[in-house]
Amino acid sequence: MASSWPSRFAVGLLLSLLICNADAAGKLATYWGQNGNEGSLTSACQSGLYNIIMISFLSVFGNGQTPQLNLAGHCNPAAGTCTGLSQDITTCKSLGVKLLLSIGGGAGSYGLSSTSDAASVATYIWNNYLGGTSTSRPLGSAVLDGVDFDIELGSGAAYYGSLAAALRQHSSSIILGAAPQCPFPDAHLGPNLSGSALSSNLFNYVWVQFYNNPPCQYGSDASNLLAAWKQWTSALPSAKILLGLPASSAAAGSGYVAPSTVVSNVLPQIKASSNYGGAMLYSYYYDQSSGYGAAIKSSL
Ligand SMILES: *[C@@H]1O[C@H](CO)[C@@H](O)[C@H](O)[C@H]1NC(C)=O
Repeated sequence: MASSWPSRFAVGLLLSLLICNADAAGKLATYWGQNGNEGSLTSACQSGLYNIIMISFLSVFGNGQTPQLNLAGHCNPAAGTCTGLSQDITTCKSLGVKLLLSIGGGAGSYGLSSTSDAASVATYIWNNYLGGTSTSRPLGSAVLDGVDFDIELGSGAAYYGSLAAALRQHSSSIILGAAPQCPFPDAHLGPNLSGSALSSNLFNYVWVQFYNNPPCQYGSDASNLLAAWKQWTSALPSAKILLGLPASSAAAGSGYVAPSTVVSNVLPQIKASSNYGGAMLYSYYYDQSSGYGAAIKSSL
């Protein structure tokens, strides 16, 4: 009993303040999986930069199709060579990094045709990537933390809400994320259509893509971006909203903003929103060479 209670109390108070602060800081999220030269998922987690990583993409699903994962040059899911990722997933989890399966993406063959189609996609994802069981889990036995909806093409906007609800029915503790483009509302995720994904209050995180969309991305100043930010944060009060940006000028067709500009002209304004959640960078591959995440991390 070396320490008296006042000093123990002081240490406890300091610790809880530190923990509260860590929790209040914005999170950094990124996408891993679309470039075979970006290094392992373990290396992304060990960088210490990211709180959430989206494994991308499940680029074929719905309309009765057998879902297919695409991890570019990393491994071949169909040949069963991605099961080694279970070791990476376990390492990432031990480092406190949350991992989501990102469904959709900019290329692929996906969509939803009905609520029952949505329910069967949810069951497939649950059994093959989350807490369920299957004899053919593409990433092996390790369990991911949730699902990211990066829906950029295809039909079925009215059924993505059913998909989110069906996933939540399997487990209330999974993490649900969504990556709408910045024009509000998003053409595929809403929230302007009954049944759309974002019409539900089921999402924990919404990383809005402020790129490839000149009307709502950073232009000669932050005004267009901030106007869109206000629409998203007001419309989705129950979700944490994150600023989605390209990690380098090569990572998107348009919308690249220098890290120093984001730190001085964007973050101070958006951090005033009560549901500000941090930033998302596309993608780990580009962030590795640009050092973008490292440059903004302490300002989040
Ligand atoms: C929802 O908004 C998107 C984007 O503006 C649009 O493409 C879509 O047609 C809208 N859907 C409905 C049902 O209003």
